[in-house]
Amino acid sequence: VTERTIQVIRNRIRAVPDHPGPGVVFRDITPLMEDGPSLHAAVDALAEATKDLDYDRVISAEARGFVFGTALAYRSRKGLVLARKPGKLPREVISVSYELEYGTDSLEIHADSIPPGARVLVADDLLATGGTARAMCELVEKSGGSVAGCAFLIELAFLEGRKRLSDYNVVSLINYS
Ligand code: PRP
Ligand code: ADE
Repeated sequence: VTERTIQVIRNRIRAVPDHPGPGVVFRDITPLMEDGPSLHAAVDALAEATKDLDYDRVISAEARGFVFGTALAYRSRKGLVLARKPGKLPREVISVSYELEYGTDSLEIHADSIPPGARVLVADDLLATGGTARAMCELVEKSGGSVAGCAFLIELAFLEGRKRLSDYNVVSLINYS
């Protein structure tokens, strides 16, 4: 992935001050997704960054995570596991709770989504505190699978989400410090 490509992608991410609350700089990826060549470049760059990881399935969390999880799964011809907010999945689930800035949330997958021994790539658009990705890693391990790596388009390094993923191989393309 060239510096030039990273710059093209970065230029399509808009900083929105004070969303969803005071002091937060929201990194808005909608301009990136709306531009065909930029979306294509971002998916290709993520695929390139994860090409040496050995995985059988991809897991991603709703909603923005699904965009990149789907693209990576499609490109690598692997299956996609949907990690969803509680109550959305129709069959037996496994749940993991995680800390938010205020309170807790949880993510669920179907109990049979990850076969024992499966190697799973965790994919998301953005790594912030690491709570979401950590929850996906726990879902993988609870299912008897292993985490092949974690891939993010964006990393908010100052939130130190990597610390919560220190057991795993973490790659990200665009860093904000
Ligand atoms: C965003 C983003 C990541 C998560 C990262 O999703 O897409 O999944 O936050 O934050 P963390 O590292 O602190 O867990 P959000 O929960 O806002 O949901 P959305 O994709 O539905 O907007
Ligand atoms: N998810 C968590 N923090 C975020 C931020 N600053 N911008 C976009 N998505 C986020």
